[in-house]
Amino acid sequence: MIKTIISVFALFAVTVAAQEHHTVNLVNRCGQGQAVFEVAGGQQFTGATNTVNGPIRGGLAWIKGAFGCGNADGLNCGDVEFTLINPGTDNGNTQNAINYSLQQNAGQTHTFKYKMAFTANGCNLSPNNPGPCTGPTQNVCPGAFVGTDPADGIVYQCTASNVGLTITFC
Ligand SMILES: *[C@@H]1O[C@H](CO)[C@@H](O)[C@H](O)[C@H]1NC(C)=O
Repeated sequence: MIKTIISVFALFAVTVAAQEHHTVNLVNRCGQGQAVFEVAGGQQFTGATNTVNGPIRGGLAWIKGAFGCGNADGLNCGDVEFTLINPGTDNGNTQNAINYSLQQNAGQTHTFKYKMAFTANGCNLSPNNPGPCTGPTQNVCPGAFVGTDPADGIVYQCTASNVGLTITFC
């Protein structure tokens, strides 16, 4: 009996450990607005630490309620965009990918309003982590997608399971 109970717990522990999850930390040093990220489908998260079970597709983080930023899609403001998917899942469509967007096309109107930075927790990005975005041009916002060219930026990538992010504003 005890043995059975122990094996049930062991199985549970293994299942929990194997479950895909991604922790996204939001740090708002702007002194105004609210740091938020949205995932495909529109659900928003505003905690300092948010753990999402399963893959994150179409993630984007910005400051809402200040700087003239929209309440959805990071409209009017710069954002950090990300996809976090574990290796070996999603029909081989495996990726952790992050970019800065100051893009102005395809319905996007992202404009530099505040400093942004990100770090990936649990893997090393390639190219290397770009450091902070401190202004509206690629000279000071490394790898950012700017203007109307959808291919002029850099998507930073890595492959590992359960990768998290820390995104800092201002
Ligand atoms: C930036 O990252 C997001 C999320 O991964 C992705 O949907 C978007 O296509 C990327 N931007 C560009 C211009 O590649």
